[in-house]
Amino acid sequence: MATTITLKRTGDKMPLVGFGLWKVQRSECADIVYKALKAGYRLLDGAGDYGNEIEAGEGLARAIKEGIVKREDVFITSKLWNTFHEKQRAKDIARHQLELWGIDYFDLYLIHFPISLEYVEPSAKYPPEWWGLDGAPHPTKVPIQETWTAMEELADEGIAKNIGVSNFQGSILIDLFRYARIEPQVLQVELHPYLTQESLVALSKTLGIAVTAYSSLGPQSWLELGMHTKTPGLLTHETVTSIAKTHSRSSAQILLRWAVQQGLAVIPKSSNDDRLKQNLQVTDFSLSEEETKALSALNVNYRLNDPQAIHPALGIFA
Ligand SMILES: NC(=O)c1ccc[n+]([C@@H]2O[C@H](COP(=O)([O-])OP(=O)(O)OC[C@H]3O[C@@H](n4cnc5c(N)ncnc54)[C@H](OP(=O)(O)O)[C@@H]3O)[C@@H](O)[C@H]2O)c1
Repeated sequence: MATTITLKRTGDKMPLVGFGLWKVQRSECADIVYKALKAGYRLLDGAGDYGNEIEAGEGLARAIKEGIVKREDVFITSKLWNTFHEKQRAKDIARHQLELWGIDYFDLYLIHFPISLEYVEPSAKYPPEWWGLDGAPHPTKVPIQETWTAMEELADEGIAKNIGVSNFQGSILIDLFRYARIEPQVLQVELHPYLTQESLVALSKTLGIAVTAYSSLGPQSWLELGMHTKTPGLLTHETVTSIAKTHSRSSAQILLRWAVQQGLAVIPKSSNDDRLKQNLQVTDFSLSEEETKALSALNVNYRLNDPQAIHPALGIFA
């Protein structure tokens, strides 16, 4: 099967399997990025919010220096954080993020959430996370249209080859298409068998947007944050383990394959050498139609990443 998705506007090829950088500790990030590239990953999914941009760039630089990859071989994604939605701030922070990475363009730059929060001066706190310096979240009123204009100018200037959005649902996505001069090429959303998002995927297909699924392993990533209590883990779910046994693969590989086989890109994160390598091996086997259906039937519309838990006014999925 194809191992890339061709993006509509630019024809750029986005790898189907990439490496996620959220919660990769700064102390080990350079090493892990280097190992991921050495293992064969050609997409790195970063964000200002992950707090490890300098170290990710160091790992990339090491792999380039050793001749493992060239810059143009690696598809680098980053994201615009909520506190930088005003037009000039968005443009300034994107340039700053490139400096932190030590590169001169992003292959893809996404609006991280359709949420604007009060600006926090980077010299005071970077990344600012969800809170102002007083420790409370402060929603503000910057319209997405203003932020999207900044994204388009970043594309015009070659700062970002492709632009897109994350955590957008149907209504706001459709509205974005009403005014976009440059249409978004990628939508990155939470998607796993507990949250299959079929109608959002169908809408994206109609609009010509590639979809990247995050948290493909379901609750696993959220356990360490103490943010998951409602469902049993997916890695140990009997439906998943029995399919894994049939294919002599791990549960994680089955969950990643389920997404990839639908044409969705995935960006698993692992700080473990073996799991990191294993997660890349998901394009060399197929699930049967019954297996795919059984996994999709686990859907309970269970969302792990909902900013409304942080502030009642941030109910973007309400
Ligand atoms: N746009 C957004 O708002 C958004 C939100 C969340 C995530 N993301 C992106 O998506 C990426 C992936 O999502 P995620 O980090 O939430 O979750 P994930 O990749 O689904 O799961 C990561 C968790 O699973 C474990 N794991 C990884 N491979 C495994 C395997 N083969 N077997 C068993 N356990 C395994 C990891 O632990 P070890 O490290 O110990 O292996 C970690 O605890 C992120 O890194 C980030 O780049 C984007």
